[in-house]
Amino acid sequence: MPQVVPGEHNEPNQRDDPKPLGELEFPESWRQRHLLDLESLSVEEITTLLDVAQRLKEITGGCRHKLSLLSGKTCANLFFENSTRTRNSFSLAAKRLGADTVEFSSTGSSVAKGETFVDTAKTIEAMGVDWVVTRHSTPGTPHLLARELNCSVLNAGDGPHGHPTQGLLDMLTIRQHLGRFEGLTVALVGDIAHSRTARSNLWGLSKLGAHVIICGPPTLVSQRWTELGFEVAHSLDDILPRCDVLNLLRIQFERQGARPFPSVHEYAALYAMDGERMRKAKDDILIMAPGPINRGVEITPEVADGPHSVILEQVNNGIAVRMAALWLLSGAAERFKEAS
Ligand code: CP
Repeated sequence: MPQVVPGEHNEPNQRDDPKPLGELEFPESWRQRHLLDLESLSVEEITTLLDVAQRLKEITGGCRHKLSLLSGKTCANLFFENSTRTRNSFSLAAKRLGADTVEFSSTGSSVAKGETFVDTAKTIEAMGVDWVVTRHSTPGTPHLLARELNCSVLNAGDGPHGHPTQGLLDMLTIRQHLGRFEGLTVALVGDIAHSRTARSNLWGLSKLGAHVIICGPPTLVSQRWTELGFEVAHSLDDILPRCDVLNLLRIQFERQGARPFPSVHEYAALYAMDGERMRKAKDDILIMAPGPINRGVEITPEVADGPHSVILEQVNNGIAVRMAALWLLSGAAERFKEAS
């Protein structure tokens, strides 16, 4: 894996020449029909997802060229919460592999007439879909659909619980730049209490050998994370010199009841990554954010748009990991059909 120095990284809009499909073989060991979370996946399964994503990214010339691997299949996006990145990249991933897409949004749908979540999903499935991609504010809703539907289910975010493809795309971006997880120190900074991205990252990264620090104010970062083996920190300045990667999580004002800190200004003074803090960080630190970002709250524009930021590369890698997930789940579903 080539090591890319911050400041010299791939531009997210760079068009690479597509590579031949030749060596893409379905991994014999892959059995999962659903992608619901990262905590239930093995190290081998997470590594397979990352390897296939990398291959598909290369074969499609940076996720731009179309293949016909999944032609004749249909992917339904069932989103009950807003999304820009996840929804559009699932849609593009399906199209890049030759599949059709169905776009469902709860606003403007028959949900307003009282149709339940499961009835809505079964209705869309009855139109002949192979994957349902779902986002919902209630933790566990993708797991419920995996029991109720016959098609494959992918979790695009279930409340504060999990966002497995976000965890995978973050890990793919780290691996592209730093080539490994063992020996790396990765800090997840901010609103851990409400962050599904944090949960998917910390399970995935720790399984693959990274040292994960969970950092933020005590009202958003419970000391109890130490019981699961994670380091907890409340001072970004104290941990900063040790970090290889910072993943700056959005303050999720929409999920909070009482404001967990006195003011946004005070939060930014203690936790925003700004130019002054960059001078105290490692020379090759990677700055990541799942997006959307609150400019000036978790990250200042000079850092978000600066040479260490890989935020837009993360977005491009989102298409790659979603192509990999759709292809792998589809292959497992075909095997399941053959065997039954
Ligand atoms: N990171 C993320 O899930 O972004 P969206 O809410 O735009 O999908």
